[in-house]
Amino acid sequence: MAAMLLPLIVALVFLSSPCSSSDPDPLQDFCVGDLKGAISVNGFPCKLMSEVKPSEFFYDGLTKEGNTSNPFGATVTAANVLAFPALNTLGISMNRVDFAPGGLNPPHLHPRASEAGVVIMGELLVGFVTTDNVFRSKVLKPGEMFVIPRGVVHFQLNVGKGKAMTVTSFNSQMPGAVVLPLNLFASQPSLPNEVLTKAFRVDQNVINEIKSKFG
Ligand code: GLV
Ligand code: MN
Repeated sequence: MAAMLLPLIVALVFLSSPCSSSDPDPLQDFCVGDLKGAISVNGFPCKLMSEVKPSEFFYDGLTKEGNTSNPFGATVTAANVLAFPALNTLGISMNRVDFAPGGLNPPHLHPRASEAGVVIMGELLVGFVTTDNVFRSKVLKPGEMFVIPRGVVHFQLNVGKGKAMTVTSFNSQMPGAVVLPLNLFASQPSLPNEVLTKAFRVDQNVINEIKSKFG
């Protein structure tokens, strides 16, 4: 009997698990995050509902152009739960990415979310590489959208003549970003050169030069 029930139990567990979503579902209408909350949970504890002000459901952090004076020529302004605590437990967040001409949002991945984006200004080459190393890309213009599956390496490069800007959205309040050049060459403490020379099949000088660019 138990053996006959096993496939049914496995199917029920599978169907009831949140396989298709990223963050867990909320258990209340809202739970504005108390970022200083003493209790550590998977997310932030809720502020008392009676203390939440109407203004806390609105955020203007994405109205401002990001400063692109950096070696990548691009900057990400995040509207995640840390910037906008009303997102807490809702499983969503957004970014604004600004690009100087030629600017690059370098290859990175989000461990906890898929990404959907829309180009607002300029022309962006948007690309990602699947886990079987197939590269897909397209040049997008304002109003055109892209999607990046969770955990997949992707980038955006400004290929237009002027500035560019995209707004992106995530199915997590805190998608996280593993920026490959920083992760590999600017970690603290540093990855051993022996690992990097073997991984990239180059000698120490090349690795030291790349590391030096990230200070
Ligand atoms: C773009 O890739 C972003 O993470 O906002
Ligand atoms: Mn991204």
